Amino acid sequence: MEYIQWQPAFNLGNETIDRQHRHLVDILNETFSLMMAYAENGRFIEKIGELREYAKEHFLFEEELMEKMAYTGLKVHREHHRNFIGELDTLEGKIRKGKKSAPAEVFLFIRDWLLEHIQVTDRGYAVYL
Ligand SMILES: [Fe+2]
Repeated sequence: MEYIQWQPAFNLGNETIDRQHRHLVDILNETFSLMMAYAENGRFIEKIGELREYAKEHFLFEEELMEKMAYTGLKVHREHHRNFIGELDTLEGKIRKGKKSAPAEVFLFIRDWLLEHIQVTDRGYAVYL
């Protein structure tokens, strides 16, 4: 398991969105550090809260942009965002219950989701920017 190193290929070419994605990756990497340090659950929950709040801001920004562009994939993309927040809440619940594997589960879920989001899902609208 490894933290994420930002790749030039992650850039979509929109300065604001790329900056927001980088920040999401940074928070995710902080989650990784907490995991490697066997941090206590409260610190994970705090970090997940930080990621959730920032992700919500980012999603809103993207959705407004897609709305302005009249992007036809907006509905599906919005659903993709909602599912992420929902899954994050579920995983946070597992941490709260003290499930030992939950921090690793959270990290892997966010990592896979974020990489897919940046490299695949967001490319759907980014080509029109
Ligand atoms: Fe995004």
